[in-house]
Amino acid sequence: MSQTFSDADIEEEQKHFSNVIATFQQYAQYSLAANNRRRKDIYTLPQGDKELLDDLGYRQKLQEVDKAILVNAEFLKLIVANPEIFGHDLDFPKDADEDRACRGTLHDHSHGDVHSHSHSHSHDHANVAPDLRGISKHQRKYKPTDFDMDKLRSTLKQFVRDWSQEGKEERETCYAPIKDALVAHFSDKPSPQSRQNIRVLVPGAGLGRLAYDVANLGFACQGNEFSHYMLLASYLILNRTDAIGQYTIYPYVHSFSNLPDREAMLRPVEIPDVLPSALPAGSSFSLVAGDFEEIYGTEYEEGDLEPQAGQWDAVLTCFFIDTAKNIVNYLRIIHRILAPGGVWINAGPLLWHFENNTTNDPSIELDLEELKMLARKIGFVISNERTIDTTYTSNSQSMLGYVYKTAFWTATKA
Ligand SMILES: C[S@@+](CC[C@H](N)C(=O)[O-])C[C@H]1O[C@@H](n2cnc3c(N)ncnc32)[C@H](O)[C@@H]1O
Repeated sequence: MSQTFSDADIEEEQKHFSNVIATFQQYAQYSLAANNRRRKDIYTLPQGDKELLDDLGYRQKLQEVDKAILVNAEFLKLIVANPEIFGHDLDFPKDADEDRACRGTLHDHSHGDVHSHSHSHSHDHANVAPDLRGISKHQRKYKPTDFDMDKLRSTLKQFVRDWSQEGKEERETCYAPIKDALVAHFSDKPSPQSRQNIRVLVPGAGLGRLAYDVANLGFACQGNEFSHYMLLASYLILNRTDAIGQYTIYPYVHSFSNLPDREAMLRPVEIPDVLPSALPAGSSFSLVAGDFEEIYGTEYEEGDLEPQAGQWDAVLTCFFIDTAKNIVNYLRIIHRILAPGGVWINAGPLLWHFENNTTNDPSIELDLEELKMLARKIGFVISNERTIDTTYTSNSQSMLGYVYKTAFWTATKA
C-alpha cells in the first residue's frame, strides 16, 4: 500500500521543521536568560552572602557560562545555516514546480565523490522536506518551549556520544559488540572489499556514527532517522566538516546540579574525532530521512516505493526498539526486510518512549522476556545474548550517572 500525506500532514510537518529551526536560532537568548536568573538570584541575598559567593568566584563562573553558551550558539547557527539540505532556501519563495519537486525528497547524506549512494532521492513517502516559504515570519513568532530546548541540548550531548574522543568509551560499549557481531556473522567476507554488497540498515541512527563505522568496515550501510534535530546536526558533521576537531562545544553548561567542580561543567569538547569525509573510496553510506515504519514497512507497489522485503542482510538497532508505539510492527518489519539468513543485532534498554504519552498514541510496553518471546514467534532465532551496562549521553564527570543494563543479542531470520 502506498503512503500518502494530506495537505494538513504536510503543513504540520513544515511547521514542525520551522519550529526546530527557530529553536536552534533562539538557543542563545533562551540559555542566557536561564543563566541570568542565577545572576538575579544573587541580588536577592544579603550583602554578606554576596561577598562570600564573590570570594568563591561564583559570579565569574556565570560569566564563563555565558561565554560558553555563545560559543554553542555559533555552532548551532552553523547547523541551520544550510537549509538547502531540504531543497529550499529559508528566505526565498520558490515557484510551485520547484516546490513540488523538492517535497518528499529524502535527505541523503552524500559525501562528495568518495561515496556511492545506495539509494536514490525518489521516495515520496518521507514528508521531511518542508516547504519553507514564509518560514522566517513564522520563526520570528515561534517561542521555543522547554521541551524544544531540551531536545536541542540533548543534540549537543549526542555529538559527544557519536563524534568526540570523550564519547568513545560510552559509544564503543555498545557499538563495538554490534560491529563485532556483524563482522562475525559475515566471517566468510573478511575484508572490507568483500563486504561491498552486504546491505546493512541502522534505524534510529541518531548522529550517524554507528552507520558511519559500519560503512568504514566496507559494508553498504544506510542509516535512517526522523528527528529534524538529528538530521540537521548530522548533515553538518557529515557533509560540511573539513577537519578533525573543527568545532568546539560546551555540552554541559546548562545544568549546575551534581557537579564536583568547574571543569565538569565548563570543559570544552572538540568534534569530530575523525574526519567523516575520509571514508575509503568505494564506500557506500547514506542516511535516509523519515519514519522507519513508513519507509521500510510500506509494501512495495510498482513505480512507487523501493521494494524493501528481503532487501537487507543486517539490521542494527542500538537504543532504538523502545521507540516503537507498536513493537509487534517494528519486529515484523525488521523480519520482513531481512534477506533469508539475514541478521538483526540489537543493543538497548526498554525505555518505552510512548509510555505515558500525552498525545493519545498507543503504546505497547513489553518486558524483556515478553519481547524475546515475541521475536521468536515472529521468526527470529536469538543467540549471543548478554547484558551490557552502559551510559547514554551522560556527563562522565557528573556526580550522578544512570547506567542502563541493556539487552544485547544477535538474531537470525529463521
Ligand atoms: C535513543 S536514540 C538512539 C540513537 C543512536 N542509535 C545511538 O545509539 O546513539 C533513538 C533515535 O531513534 C530515532 N527514532 C525514533 N523513532 C524513529 C522512527 N520511527 N523512525 C526513525 N527514527 C526514529 C530518534 O529520533 C533518535 O535519534
